[in-house]
Amino acid sequence: MKNKVPYNYLPFEFSNYKKISIKWDKLIKSSEFTLGTFMEEFENNFKKYIKAKYCFGTNNGTDALILCLKSLGIKKGDEVITVCNSFYATAGAIHAVGAKIVFVDSDDRYQINTSQIEKKINKRTKAIIPVHWGGASPLMKNIIKIANKYKIHVIEDACMGIGASIYKKSPGTFGIVNAFSMHPLKSLNVMGDGGIVATNNTKIANWIRKYRNHGMINRDNIDFWGVNYRLQPLQAIVANENLKKIDSVIKKRNKNASFLDEHLKILQPKVILPKRLKGYMETFALYMIICEKRDKLIKYLVQNNIEAKIHYPIPLHLQKPGLKNGYKKGDFPIAEQQAKKLITLPVHQYLNKNQLLYMVNKIKQFYNY
Ligand SMILES: Cc1ncc(COP(=O)(O)O)c(C=O)c1O
Repeated sequence: MKNKVPYNYLPFEFSNYKKISIKWDKLIKSSEFTLGTFMEEFENNFKKYIKAKYCFGTNNGTDALILCLKSLGIKKGDEVITVCNSFYATAGAIHAVGAKIVFVDSDDRYQINTSQIEKKINKRTKAIIPVHWGGASPLMKNIIKIANKYKIHVIEDACMGIGASIYKKSPGTFGIVNAFSMHPLKSLNVMGDGGIVATNNTKIANWIRKYRNHGMINRDNIDFWGVNYRLQPLQAIVANENLKKIDSVIKKRNKNASFLDEHLKILQPKVILPKRLKGYMETFALYMIICEKRDKLIKYLVQNNIEAKIHYPIPLHLQKPGLKNGYKKGDFPIAEQQAKKLITLPVHQYLNKNQLLYMVNKIKQFYNY
């Protein structure tokens, strides 16, 4: 049976792709299949959207993170601090450049716990990667303050953050060089993989522009050994079209999230909602709440055709490579507790009021409210 309240909205997202296919026709006629004007158009529009000086389309968000780390020369022997409740890619990117992953716990908004960062800093620490987890933002002001005090870099993992803001400032504009994802289930998505790096630093931008494209200065000359981390122009066209509707997507998700908040807050303390901070606009890439009897609840919701999820049942430090790195149960009690109690409910822009109401009623029913 089809889900009454689906989590995956992609069948709706691309049900009409006429505008995209018209642009694809143009691309095919132009044969600009690598870099070129369609890519530039998107990069220019995106940098205007987030108000950054330079943006570069990349293969995906993971490579965008690797590019950020490499652009700062982070390598073996260095340490990078990040939060233990993120997607694998945040830690994977640090590992990919050879640096040591240093985890810290989460806070009650499931973001990096800024009060835990300072004690992890030592002379090998080169950067902090705060994650805009779930499309909510961490306390960036605190993070920048700590980074400035210890003269270390901030690289934002803004992979879920496109369309969010902190007092009107976009994620990916606080750190020195920052990464975004356009994976199909992100707020700005393409038909496959895609990512973006943003920076205001000209030196870093010049390096990334070349490194992303084999180190090339021109067809016959390279400056240094590089790689191919380019976004596909076919995907740049999709991104450009979807960028036009991003503000309405975020508005609708926020409206849905407010509806859920309003109806679920009466279930406290069985259900605990995260604080919604003043001045913080969220993308609601994930609508997450803490629930009593979480495992039973998710089973009940799925049985009732509500596609609820868990992001994620195992924090990064307790994954196989985390344990191999010496982490153990009990290292990060807040994230570990949250991993047992968090549930992610569908909140996307294609849900209607009846679906939302059906979902909150089922949750109320579960708690005999
Ligand atoms: C927080 C976070 N970081 C990094 C990534 C990696 O992005 P991608 O899947 O585009 O490589 C994702 C998404 O998948 C993510 O959610």
